[in-house]
Amino acid sequence: MTQDSIIQLAQKYKTPLYIYDFDGIKDRVLEFKQAFKARKSLLCYALKANSNLSLLSFLAKLDCGADCVSINEVKKAILAGIPKYKIIYSGVGKNDDDIKEALDSDILFINVESKMELLRIESIAKAMNKHARISIRVNPDVDAKTHPYISTGLRENKFGVDMESAKAMYIYANNSKHLNPIGIHFHIGSQLLDSTPIMQSMEKIVDLVFLLLALKIDLKFIDIGGGIGIKYENEETIDLYSYAQGILKALNGLDLSIIVEPGRYIVGNNGILVSKVIYEKYNKGKRFCIIDAAMNDLLRPSLYNAKHGITHISIDSKSLEIPPILSEKNDFIDKADIVGPICESGDYLAKDIILPPTKSGDLIVIQSAGAYGFSMSSNYNSRTKCAEVALIEGKEKLICKRESFEDLIAKEKPYLGDNDEF
Ligand code: LLP
Repeated sequence: MTQDSIIQLAQKYKTPLYIYDFDGIKDRVLEFKQAFKARKSLLCYALKANSNLSLLSFLAKLDCGADCVSINEVKKAILAGIPKYKIIYSGVGKNDDDIKEALDSDILFINVESKMELLRIESIAKAMNKHARISIRVNPDVDAKTHPYISTGLRENKFGVDMESAKAMYIYANNSKHLNPIGIHFHIGSQLLDSTPIMQSMEKIVDLVFLLLALKIDLKFIDIGGGIGIKYENEETIDLYSYAQGILKALNGLDLSIIVEPGRYIVGNNGILVSKVIYEKYNKGKRFCIIDAAMNDLLRPSLYNAKHGITHISIDSKSLEIPPILSEKNDFIDKADIVGPICESGDYLAKDIILPPTKSGDLIVIQSAGAYGFSMSSNYNSRTKCAEVALIEGKEKLICKRESFEDLIAKEKPYLGDNDEF
């Protein structure tokens, strides 16, 4: 993406604005597929990273499946044209209606996260006279060595079931008329920069698969989750080819189709959040650059202290004349916090970064915001959500309109007294 195209799109669609590079997204998908091409494999893109419908239909055309974590994600995937037999549904708390809908949709399988859920699925499938295809999410109790909020493979995390429970659940499911155990799943965390914990988990899971085979429980799929980290700053990342080779080797001759669930790796580096400088301010030796994007647009810095690259684009514009009484003799401070307009001290996009002097109207580009950016955005402080634009083979496409004030209040209305019907 060139600076000129960013400036032009920011002028046309206003800021804050998400821009995605769909060609880059395609490259990442092909890279993943290439790495696993030696085996039967299915890339189920993790919608939670970014579930824009245009993006999903673009991925459907690239033969991707979908890893969904709510029934609405399942519906979005189907709506976008992802075939049902390539959709899997995970999540620690599915309610009865979700399970019913998932069984009705006839997706590939449901990832089961607890014994109670297994029984729930069985009784719902029985009532519907169905055979529920399931996979069990195993928690291998391996430290993924990532931020604690996005670590999921330890006993203390709420995800999956321990190995012993999993074995009992497979035996139970195999004897049930309404359950069909066809897969096994693990996912130990996100933004992983070292594949060792994944391989350790893989070994444990493969041992369990062999044990199940001895019990004549013959699985078809091994779902190895997502989690491959990306470069936000100067991180050393996992080499995809060696990762795939490690997985294939660990399979140790098992004839299972591999499901991978990458989210961040596909979209993370292929999206930016473009915002405008509102103005700068100095608070007794501390410099702030206030922009029109905030934690409601990109929560990652506030929530995980995540660091995103920042680029400043200077725009030719007239600055306001400062009257002498308001002029301050501030020595320039080269470091600044980039903050948003939200009423929280935790509302920042970057802290203490070297930043040239900026002026109102300049652009601040927040890099690598394609994953868990828009999908985690909110209406906090009654702010409306950003627009999203995609660049596809040099052409731009508005893929999500900016929310309006009317959109914001569409589900509410003022309370006008006791006789007021909603
Ligand atoms: N599969 C499962 C079961 C998951 O829980 C996740 C992510 C993925 C796949 C996709 O992981 P990825 O390839 O994107 O790392 N909001 C956080 C990330 C939360 C990840 C949750 N699970 C962030 O902004 O860093």
